[in-house]
Amino acid sequence: MNVYDSNRMAALLKPLGYDEVKSPEAADMIILNTCHIREKAAEKIYSELGRLYKIKKSRYVAGERIQIAVVGCVAQAEGKEIFKRAPYVDFILGPQSYQRLPELVVRSTGRRGPAFDLRFSPETKFDQVTTRHYHSHFTAFLTIQEGCDKFCTFCVVPYTRGMEYSRPVEEILIEARHLVKHGVREITVLGQNVNAYNGKAESGSWDLAKLIRSLAEIDGLDRIRYTTSYPANMTKELIQAHSDVPALMPFIHLPVQSGSNKILTAMNRRHNSYDYYCLADSLRKARPDIGLSSDFIVGFPGESESDFKETINLVEEIGFAQAYSFKYSPRPGTPAASLPGQVSEKEKNERLKHLQDVLKIQQSKFNRDCVNKKISVLFDRPGKKRGQFLGRSPYMQAVHVFSERDIIGEIINVNIIKGYKNSLMGEIKSCDSLNSKPMRVQH
Ligand code: 5AD
Ligand code: SF4
Repeated sequence: MNVYDSNRMAALLKPLGYDEVKSPEAADMIILNTCHIREKAAEKIYSELGRLYKIKKSRYVAGERIQIAVVGCVAQAEGKEIFKRAPYVDFILGPQSYQRLPELVVRSTGRRGPAFDLRFSPETKFDQVTTRHYHSHFTAFLTIQEGCDKFCTFCVVPYTRGMEYSRPVEEILIEARHLVKHGVREITVLGQNVNAYNGKAESGSWDLAKLIRSLAEIDGLDRIRYTTSYPANMTKELIQAHSDVPALMPFIHLPVQSGSNKILTAMNRRHNSYDYYCLADSLRKARPDIGLSSDFIVGFPGESESDFKETINLVEEIGFAQAYSFKYSPRPGTPAASLPGQVSEKEKNERLKHLQDVLKIQQSKFNRDCVNKKISVLFDRPGKKRGQFLGRSPYMQAVHVFSERDIIGEIINVNIIKGYKNSLMGEIKSCDSLNSKPMRVQH
């Protein structure tokens, strides 16, 4: 979502004459788009700001003035504290006010005091459709929902991104058609709780399943993904869509956080481990090859060794194509930060290593199981080596191949010849081609 937001900001600043540059040293304005989800992410901002201050100082000595801005969830959570710790910051902007970026740039130029906007106004945030939401030319993110009302006890998102808001259907369809017209073949619709999507349409309100079916009708849109989902918001209709919408990719990121019901209750999650087993089962019945991904937190307050074992059991029982796992990080202002039974750093480290070892084995196995299969890959970038191209499989694996022909923008059925920890190696036979339409990108 931060990538999507950063691209929107770049597009918003274009009319003011700003363009992207490759390094902070070459910039007239530096915007740090920040994440507050875990302590490590937030702390990075201040060390990065220290580095940028040096650039600002040396440019000042050379008689030039550059602006530094902090935007995103750290700006929202830290507020004016940022100006205290880093007084050289020119302005800060919360994640729901990006439409006001041009105004803030102008306001902070030439004024003495710092400028800020930390209001919540998601309805207007999306007002403008721009062409700059690309991830690459052929894949794009499209935010359809923001915010969260779930209040998991460990999480800052409800405080930084605000309440759940779904963009109206028509606005999303216009943006999607616009992206496809400019060459995009794969869209990932985004939301903090994307499957809680409930957007207004002329015919009433639409859920995510209905939206996906409608997106799938856009001629030229070959692949659809959605992330991130909340288990309690998985509907029968959405699971059914995995069975009968060919463009919907067989991969789902569905965070479970823990395998222990005691911990899930303390986290205020609205699902238990049984619900999760049932969901995995239904998804696999709907789409037997589906790849499952998840998020895990180890060392949540009160997590005992046996609670942790239940997480390991869940992982072993379900089997994940890939997953993210984190040590619990107490976030100021969240209920879990003041719970008794905080787990020691040493135990957190041990549990994280144990869990990651198990997840790594599963990911390698998932990748190895692809060997000798034909898998469709959307190639969207050159590889590091000469003649090498990189793309994504339907299951989000990175796939690299060698080709004499430029295949960027094509979807090709590739023979998988090797499965590594984090990627696949493929081989293209001359007759292998699926939907490999000529490139439609308009430069
Ligand atoms: N500590 C550790 N991990 C967290 N996450 C969110 N908040 C915290 C926290 N306080 C993880 C969750 C979530 C992912 C985006 O980040 O697993 O799903
Ligand atoms: Fe945070 Fe996700 Fe829970 Fe919302 S559902 S509070 S975003 S972890």
